[in-house]
Amino acid sequence: MSALFQPLTIKDVTARNRIAVPPMCQYMAEDGLVSDWHRVHYGALGQGGAGVVVVEATAVSPEGRISPNCLGIWNDEQAEKLAEIARLIAAHGAVPGIQIAHAGRKASANRPWDGDDHIPNDAPKGWQTIAPSAIAFGGHLGKVPVEMTQDDIARVRADFVAAATRARDAGFRWLELHFAHGYLAQSFYNDKSNQRGDEYGGSPENRARFLIETLREVRKVWPENLPLTARLGVLEFDGRDEAQMAESVALATRFRDEGLDLLSVSVGFTTADGQIPWGTPGFLAPYAKRIRQESGLLVSSAWGFDEPSFAQACVADGALDQVLIGKAHLADPHWTYLAATRLGLDSPADVLPDPYGHWLRRYRFAG
Ligand code: NDP
Ligand code: FNR
Repeated sequence: MSALFQPLTIKDVTARNRIAVPPMCQYMAEDGLVSDWHRVHYGALGQGGAGVVVVEATAVSPEGRISPNCLGIWNDEQAEKLAEIARLIAAHGAVPGIQIAHAGRKASANRPWDGDDHIPNDAPKGWQTIAPSAIAFGGHLGKVPVEMTQDDIARVRADFVAAATRARDAGFRWLELHFAHGYLAQSFYNDKSNQRGDEYGGSPENRARFLIETLREVRKVWPENLPLTARLGVLEFDGRDEAQMAESVALATRFRDEGLDLLSVSVGFTTADGQIPWGTPGFLAPYAKRIRQESGLLVSSAWGFDEPSFAQACVADGALDQVLIGKAHLADPHWTYLAATRLGLDSPADVLPDPYGHWLRRYRFAG
């Protein structure tokens, strides 16, 4: 039996296999609204066979968008259109998920293909960014954010709760809190971006306070029977790996105690100078395995797991409960079918809906 094709059950939700599409920003929204691009993109991914499809980082407030073209979930019109996306993802058996996010000091940026750099505050589409401390990310993201007051912190926490409520009502069955990648929550967690003197900065416990409080408040509105997950950069590859891993194991354990169901183990990306071992496929696997073993949480992870037998080995070996396949799904929304074929499943075309599967059961193609 293929480990990668074992179902994954969390509470009342069963994903048909261990493959998930992680959130991937499309930068194709206006006013935070779903467009035809999203309908085609997520519809295809929903047909592709993955167990879970998680909609890209969706901002909890206008200022929480990475770019002016990011999706939002701060009003009812946005949520209504996102409900179509949840329905399209679920139509052929994938679990519809969504990541809710605030970009913090990395917000107000141009799209990657338009430069990826900060848009000045006085430009028509730019805005003032906020963060735990008034420290710029640096490089192409050089704008200095305004340090958040405790009222700002309470407001953003409430924005996450409102977003989770809308995501629930829109029909999503899997929620991911974006606590990673140098955005707002990660920048509270990291001591280089958080130099606050109040109870939200300083000790590891204080730097985790915004994350824990947000999780706790969201847990109250997100249904008990549905998976609540988070993505966290557990280390930065900045020469402090062991200390950061010890801190992240402790935080993951607290997340579990607060009712988190699964942690998506990722990199911090708090600064631009991390020495990320890009050349090693699946370089996060040993770190994810440690978080899994020491915190007792279910884990997923990304970055270079897209060789099917390697992905399968990571599940079989107990490093991962779920494997995130990102860019390979942009190349081929039916990556799950490709994996089923490469792993020699008896009837790989069964992972696809009948309008595709029927023909692929009967005919073999060179590809
Ligand atoms: P960048 O995408 O600007 O990447 C930072 C550096 O890492 C660059 O030097 C880049 O190389 C390198 N890099 C990134 N991914 C790879 C890879 N797979 N293989 C080899 N080198 C790589 O960083 P960001 O801070 O914008 O994003 C951090 C990560 O998060 C990226 O991997 C990005 O894909 C992802 N991301 C996350 C988003 C989110 O969480 N909402 C949104 C968009 C992206 P080079 O300059 O050669 O590309
Ligand atoms: C990403 N990534 C990402 N991560 C996240 O948590 N929220 C997001 O919205 C995005 N957006 C995004 C856009 C694009 C275009 C890319 C390529 C990546 C990171 C993504 O989820 C995944 O972790 C990486 O792509 C690494 O996995 P792969 O591509 O090596 O399988």
